[in-house]
Amino acid sequence: MQRHLETFLQLDELGERFPEFQPTFPFPGEYIDSFHRGLAETPLQDGILVQVAKPGSAKIIPGFLRRADALKIYELAYFAAGDILEIGIFQGLSGTILARATRNSGKPERRIVSVDLNPLRLAQTFLTLASQGLLAGREFRHGDAAGVVRKLARQGRQFGFSFIDHSHAYQPVLEVCQELPKVIAPGGFCLFHDYNDERNREPGNDAYKVYQAVADGLPSPMFTFCGVYGCTALYQRTN
Ligand SMILES: C[S@@+](CC[C@H](N)C(=O)[O-])C[C@H]1O[C@@H](n2cnc3c(N)ncnc32)[C@H](O)[C@@H]1O
Repeated sequence: MQRHLETFLQLDELGERFPEFQPTFPFPGEYIDSFHRGLAETPLQDGILVQVAKPGSAKIIPGFLRRADALKIYELAYFAAGDILEIGIFQGLSGTILARATRNSGKPERRIVSVDLNPLRLAQTFLTLASQGLLAGREFRHGDAAGVVRKLARQGRQFGFSFIDHSHAYQPVLEVCQELPKVIAPGGFCLFHDYNDERNREPGNDAYKVYQAVADGLPSPMFTFCGVYGCTALYQRTN
């Protein structure tokens, strides 16, 4: 397991640089497989991978992931042990990457639980996944993220990987961070989107405080920093 401590960013460095994808898990070659390579080759718009084509179709899935974000989501979903918790789904871009990874990993029995506050987004993501035949092992949960995670904990659910991408504001991210210890299994990973965003360091910008919420909400030393990739930050539950 590889950590990239040199990619840690101080508050005043956010958005100054976007570290490239680097592997956390060992695998031969530059990419895990052809889907991973495809993410590396998808055209960008202003540095953002805004859409992924459904393989074998002209249809696109909109979203706002950097290339390094997408590559990291795929890697963690491919290799992490156990079920996957996706918080914030939009129209199914990260959801598609997660589903492709579990299927391609040869461990399709792992379940993906996808959470969103907005019923329209749940419906859109359902259709995105259904049209690609990627609904197997998928569970959808409607509600506020922290409340849903609390409920999952009460049900005894444990996850090996969570992609957290629901809000940029301090309180909603803080509340989820405080619940994650109950559902992330020892050794499991959390990947926070929009952590490395310059808007997080704007004092008057209350809409963006992901970096601060993770620093305040995720218990240390229970969770250890593993690296920044694109605008995401990866943490592992180490005890
Ligand atoms: C940035 S989008 C997610 C993008 C998605 N991960 C992707 O890669 O395409 C954020 C999503 O989080 C949902 N959301 C916002 N606040 C939430 C909350 N408090 N709890 C649950 N979902 C929330 C929104 O409805 C929206 O679908």
